[in-house]
Amino acid sequence: GLVTALSSGALAQDLTGKVIGFSQIGSESGWRAAETSVTKLQAEERGIDLKFADAQQKQENQIKAIRGFIAQGVDAILIAPVVATGWDDVLTEAKEAEIPVILLDRGIDAPEDLYLTSVASDQVLEGRVAGEWLVNEVAGEECNVVELQGTVGSSPAINRKQGFEEGIASAANITITQSQTGDFTRSKGKEVMEAFLKSSNGGADICAVYAHNDDMAVGAIQAIKDAGLKPGEDILVVSIDAVPDIFTAIAAGEANATVELTPNMAGPAFDALAAYWANGTEPEKFIITESKLYTAADDPAGEYERRKGLGY
Ligand code: AHR
Repeated sequence: GLVTALSSGALAQDLTGKVIGFSQIGSESGWRAAETSVTKLQAEERGIDLKFADAQQKQENQIKAIRGFIAQGVDAILIAPVVATGWDDVLTEAKEAEIPVILLDRGIDAPEDLYLTSVASDQVLEGRVAGEWLVNEVAGEECNVVELQGTVGSSPAINRKQGFEEGIASAANITITQSQTGDFTRSKGKEVMEAFLKSSNGGADICAVYAHNDDMAVGAIQAIKDAGLKPGEDILVVSIDAVPDIFTAIAAGEANATVELTPNMAGPAFDALAAYWANGTEPEKFIITESKLYTAADDPAGEYERRKGLGY
């Protein structure tokens, strides 16, 4: 079923009896909701007792939840860190309690000995792939890009911005004219895109929108339509995640490209813990997931079918 479709093919280790805390950011995006469902399924498959805490986008709630997990004496802690800084103290507490910590999908600025491993994509690469797609797509034509950034201070917002800038660096014809946060949400993506359109001659001066996730792109698509323009044609749309809704938009010609981020970060995390507990095997410090580009040439309707139901 679902989990089998996402796992590597290797049999999942039985971790019955293990109690693992998961401090999740919230449910700001379709991708995030899918990660939550997949994590619960991956835990169930292994017999893990997963303690789930939703931080509603607030780091202070995450820190509280982690302190709660430490007090309970859980066997391990998974953290999807909302922002990159401010983790040293609580991670030191976990280390002193000898509880292994695994970071999921976002990185942090902290000494590497404070966590066992980090399962995430190469977010700079994701941005670069999106930027290089645009360079090819516009083929030398002048192109003004507006950028919808993710949550301020989060590693994907920082890295996807940097990667995209690297991706377009060789193209003097491409310029980022406006860039603002849309907080990884559909509603903020729409709101910020409306402002971009207003300040760009009703959108006539915009050639493309680069959104740090698909949800913001979906919001931007709505704003472009409301402004009487055709997303995907008048304004190109490129984003990151590969959630089902972006494939619907690509199939309809309203979005152009997305870079896939797997929602299965927990599977590799649990496998790393299983090996660590079985024989002390230290995992690699960074377990990097794939970043594949999808466009209209990749059977978007089929890609939609393959993903729907994965908790999105
Ligand atoms: O950290 C991963 C990012 O967080 C996803 O790309 C985005 O959709 C989510 O909110």
